[in-house]
Amino acid sequence: MKIELKKWSLDDKKSLSEVCSRVDRTYLSNRLPSPYTEDSAAWWLNMACEQEGHSGIFRSINVDGKIVGNISVEQKSDVYQKDAEIGYLLTTENWSRGIMTEAVRQICDIAFAKLDIIRITALVYEPNTASRKVLLKNQFVLEGIMKRAVWKDGHIYDLCVYGRLKDPL
Ligand SMILES: CC(C)(COP(=O)(O)OP(=O)(O)OC[C@H]1O[C@@H](n2cnc3c(N)ncnc32)[C@H](O)[C@@H]1OP(=O)(O)O)[C@@H](O)C(=O)NCCC(=O)NCCS
Repeated sequence: MKIELKKWSLDDKKSLSEVCSRVDRTYLSNRLPSPYTEDSAAWWLNMACEQEGHSGIFRSINVDGKIVGNISVEQKSDVYQKDAEIGYLLTTENWSRGIMTEAVRQICDIAFAKLDIIRITALVYEPNTASRKVLLKNQFVLEGIMKRAVWKDGHIYDLCVYGRLKDPL
């Protein structure tokens, strides 16, 4: 299995909308539009292509040449500008094959090399065990838990704050 990250292109509207329409949203924020249309994809691709390499790294996840997911590291602003937030999603049929563990490994290397940041933050809802495992396998450390910080579809979740430093202490 060949796992590659590729820069998004404005031509990827169809692939991105297919992936985002099929993804499990249980532990995702409402930033992901629902339903996810080609217009939603166009908005993301324009933003990604504009910010790529300056204030963010935006990649499609390709397995044996097919786009199966989305991953990004977005730099924050103001006093948080040396920090960036990672986000990712994968189509359900590809879960538990080690794909996101490898994608996170690759994008962290790129983000630390290309962005002016000293840490990457990941925010994960407490029951999202698969995502928490992905982070732990990539040198992220659980720095704290914000109690009852998330309200999603009628459920309240604790929010786990993970961090990975560019130069570990
Ligand atoms: C979270 C997500 C990205 C994980 O991707 P993945 O490619 O399946 O992850 P990996 O296979 O690299 O590793 C996941 C690990 O969790 C395990 N796992 C998968 N589903 C699990 C579950 N429901 N409960 C417990 N463990 C689980 C896998 O077996 C694997 O374990 P291992 O480390 O012992 O091998 C994927 O499930 C997803 O896209 N979820 C929906 C979107 C999402 O939640 N994004 C993250 C928001 S913070």
